[in-house]
Order: sequence, then structure tokens, then C-alpha cells
Amino acid sequence: MTLFITFEGPEGSGKTTQIRLLADALRSQGYDVLTTREPGGTVIGDAIRSVLLSIEHHTMSPRAETLLFNAARAQIVDEVIRPALDAGRIVLCDRYADSTLAYQGYGREQDLDELRALGRYATAALTPDVTIYLDIDPHAGLARKRAGDAAEWNRMEEETLAYHQAVRAGYHALAAQEPERWLLLDATARPGVLHETLLSRLEPHLIAMKERNPA
Ligand code: TYD
Repeated sequence: MTLFITFEGPEGSGKTTQIRLLADALRSQGYDVLTTREPGGTVIGDAIRSVLLSIEHHTMSPRAETLLFNAARAQIVDEVIRPALDAGRIVLCDRYADSTLAYQGYGREQDLDELRALGRYATAALTPDVTIYLDIDPHAGLARKRAGDAAEWNRMEEETLAYHQAVRAGYHALAAQEPERWLLLDATARPGVLHETLLSRLEPHLIAMKERNPA
């Protein structure tokens, strides 16, 4: 059994809660599940994360930003995600290569084809089986974030509302290009309701996984 599931969404979409609920549900069904997050998830990735997200680094060049996100990604793929998939586990990852297309591509207007080529290099062409997208208006999402832990507030969240709206529109464009991979969900639903919807939308993918790997 092996399935690579990524979570995407604008700020404050509640990914963390949904990943926890999904991991618990899958484990209770007997699956071996690993959860991780980007940027970070490794000692090297966490060091890169603090360079990327420090509020003081407001002069960071968009290309440096892109490369650092991809550097953290290469590390987590080699050290964590690929070995877990090879061991037959289900991997749930909070953000992955689509975040770079949305935030650095649509958000910072960097060339999408170049970002895709770089992403293939960074991931050694590992693509998710399923991407769960939790949709929320950035205005509401950022308000949720602001109401949370101030220590979590980071350099990307400092960006303008217009930036975050471009990111969200980018996600919608990406999802439309690969509708079979993306599951779109309304992140404003109550967490328990959202979790149930997510589980039922994921069910066909779990069934397909079992058919691919009969016990
Ligand atoms: P984080 O605190 O992990 O935010 P969230 O809980 O919303 O995932 O911070 C990660 C930030 O980095 C977030 O604003 C999204 C941004 N990001 C990119 O801009 N590009 C990327 O490739 C990735 C992985 C994240």
C-alpha cells in the first residue's frame, strides 16, 4: 500500500487540523501513515525554513526564495518521503511542489515552465497521487491566522491581500489543469464536516490503491 497525498491551500485554510484528522482516521483503518510538512520536515529543511520565513528577510530575491523552497523540498523527498513510500506507507505532506507554482509562480509572477522544470529536478520527478486543496478567501484565511499564535506569523503572510488573492487564483488554475489529481474542498466548513467530506472524496483513491497493491 502506498499513496502520496499532499495538502494545499491559502493561508489559514486549516490544513494542519485536517491532516491530523485524516492521519488518525487512516491509522484507525490500519494504514501505516507518515505526516510531514514543507518547508521543513528535516533538520536541514527546518534550517532553510527559518531563512525563508524570517520576517527580517524582506529583501529576499524571488529567485533565491524559489531555490530555497526547492532545496528544502529535495531534502525532504530524499530523506523522508521517498523512503516512506518505498516502505509502503501512506505519506501526508503539508504543502509540496504546487505551493511553489502558486506562491512563486502565480504570486511572484515567475515563469511557470521554469518552475516546473526546477520542481521536477528538486523532487526527482516524484508527483503526488492526490492533492487535497482546502479553499478559503485569503481575507478570511489571514484573519484566522492573525487570531492564532503570533509566533507563527511569517514573511509570506506579510504579503498584500492582492498577492494572496493571486496565489488562490493560481491554485484554481492548477487544479483545473489536472482535475483527476486535485480534490477541491470548501475550507470554511466546520472541521468535523470538512473531515467527513474529505474522507468520502478520498475513498475512491484508497480503493484504487488497494486494487493496485492487492494484499
Ligand atoms: P507555514 O507556516 O508552514 O504556513 P502554512 O501553515 O500556511 O502552510 O509557512 C509556509 C509559508 O511558505 C506559507 O506562506 C506558504 C509559503 N510557501 C511558498 O511560498 N512556496 C512553497 O513552495 C512552499 C512549500 C511554501
